[in-house]
Amino acid sequence: MRIAITGAKGQLGRSLTESFQSHELLLIDLPEHDVTQRDIIPLISDFGPELVIHAAAMTDVDGCEREPDVAYGVNALGTRNVALACQRCDAPMLYISTDYVFDGTSDEPYLEYDEPNPTSVYARSKLAGEEFVRDLVNNFYIVRTAWLYGRNGNNFVEKMIQLADRGSELSVVSNEFGSPTYAPDLAEAIFRLSQHPLYGIYHLINEGSCSRYELACKVLELAGKRDVQLRPGKIYARAAKVPRRAVLRNFCAARQLGIVLRPWEDALRAYSEERNGA
Ligand SMILES: NC(=O)c1ccc[n+]([C@@H]2O[C@H](COP(=O)([O-])OP(=O)(O)OC[C@H]3O[C@@H](n4cnc5c(N)ncnc54)[C@H](OP(=O)(O)O)[C@@H]3O)[C@@H](O)[C@H]2O)c1
Repeated sequence: MRIAITGAKGQLGRSLTESFQSHELLLIDLPEHDVTQRDIIPLISDFGPELVIHAAAMTDVDGCEREPDVAYGVNALGTRNVALACQRCDAPMLYISTDYVFDGTSDEPYLEYDEPNPTSVYARSKLAGEEFVRDLVNNFYIVRTAWLYGRNGNNFVEKMIQLADRGSELSVVSNEFGSPTYAPDLAEAIFRLSQHPLYGIYHLINEGSCSRYELACKVLELAGKRDVQLRPGKIYARAAKVPRRAVLRNFCAARQLGIVLRPWEDALRAYSEERNGA
């Protein structure tokens, strides 16, 4: 199959490239290719893809708040360009979206059918991307995920390890909850999902949830940094208003296709072993 992947150099994009390596791939990322430019439309459609996976995004949540025009340009209008390319060559599109489309005020995990209510520019621009996909593409998957980490990524797990390397005491937010998701696990689940023309919205995350503080404790334990003191803290002042408890529930993929990612603790252990070269 011919498959186009945007955001191919990002943490998820790299894992997707590995999971789909037996296929003919068109890899799209900056600086060579920019999804905000209209020439991305013929680039993708002339390739004749049988699937287009759109993972490119402006993912700096606070940066989006400071530069909303750039955020909407990439996450909304860039997604429209990719959707128009899919429309032009009648290819199915798989768009990566986010737990942040929900406001996180529910105590229950969010189902695929729950009503989004984004609270930040990042989240609103990603939801606008979802709407372009739904409006423009005949056959689409929207895959919402959360708290991604993986090799070479600028993510919370890596940040905790770097901070622990520098200090002996850390305060970490204990009232923000989510599902840490290992990028290679998500890429494999996306590979499996893409084998079925069961289009629609999916929530794909490693099973279970935790607070940032609980995640940090586990990360440092697995990294062997026992001398670092962790203290639970409150959400600190930041540019973006982030949801406190936007925990996603994988209902559709689990129920209809048996696609379930392993528990987040198991995935984190596997990442940690890989990282430590075990
Ligand atoms: N990270 C998370 O915790 C998380 C959670 C939920 C959902 N998601 C979604 O999952 C997807 C993948 O996230 P990720 O963590 O892998 O992000 P990432 O590591 O930041 O990768 C995104 C990639 O897209 C590229 N990109 C940005 N603007 C572009 C443009 N105009 N044209 C082409 N490429 C562009 C980036 O390049 P530069 O690095 O040069 O900007 C980067 O290589 C995103 O759609 C994100 O919204 C992420």
